[in-house]
Amino acid sequence: MKQFWTEKHKLNDVAHLTGSDLYAINTYMELPLMPDMDVLNIGVGMGKCTRQLKELTNNVYVLDICQEAIDKVKDVIIKGYLTPQSLPKYKFDLIMSHLVSQHINKEELTNHIEYGINALSLQGEMVIQIAVPINRNEVDYSDASAGAGSIKYTIDEVVELINIYGGRLTRLKFYERFLQYNMDWYIFHIKRINMIHIEEPEQ
Ligand SMILES: C[S@@+](CC[C@H](N)C(=O)[O-])C[C@H]1O[C@@H](n2cnc3c(N)ncnc32)[C@H](O)[C@@H]1O
Repeated sequence: MKQFWTEKHKLNDVAHLTGSDLYAINTYMELPLMPDMDVLNIGVGMGKCTRQLKELTNNVYVLDICQEAIDKVKDVIIKGYLTPQSLPKYKFDLIMSHLVSQHINKEELTNHIEYGINALSLQGEMVIQIAVPINRNEVDYSDASAGAGSIKYTIDEVVELINIYGGRLTRLKFYERFLQYNMDWYIFHIKRINMIHIEEPEQ
């Protein structure tokens, strides 16, 4: 999968990377955008959203599986992370993920949710776009290795992951039905369940 994306980034392949416009996707993502927020954008693509975030705050971070993607926006970010496991805890006011979940397998989605929730500040919010099968129970991992963007997760399995990893679903919003791909797009808004930051002893 990493190789798939590395090639697309090297070619600047817009068809696969997309260059979503922050303000266009915000009409349905409804991101809690605030000046000076610490924001993490998961999945850089062509980098447009990341650059637009920098117009709102100086504290922009990204997570992408490819170093090539991180390099593309290195002039506007504070830091880029290659794995969810390397994210700092209790840091981000907003974590956003758009057009990424349908490209990643269940293990990766689990990691994004687990370490994403851990990386939220106490009042922080994670907003993820996820494709759901129109027939709610039809999980479809058929293109999981192709990076083709057609992986779908049921609402129940995403909610289960959120609950397991200490999050709470604060809002679930239907956005659009794509009949030809047998998918509905939903926007999941997630917050931390624990509102107390427990200091851990230094090792
Ligand atoms: C289709 S683009 C989406 C770009 C952007 N978010 C947008 O909406 O235009 C997918 C991006 O996710 C990255 N990506 C793919 N798998 C990933 C993973 N497991 N973790 C983080 N990023 C990943 C790719 O390198 C690529 O930059």
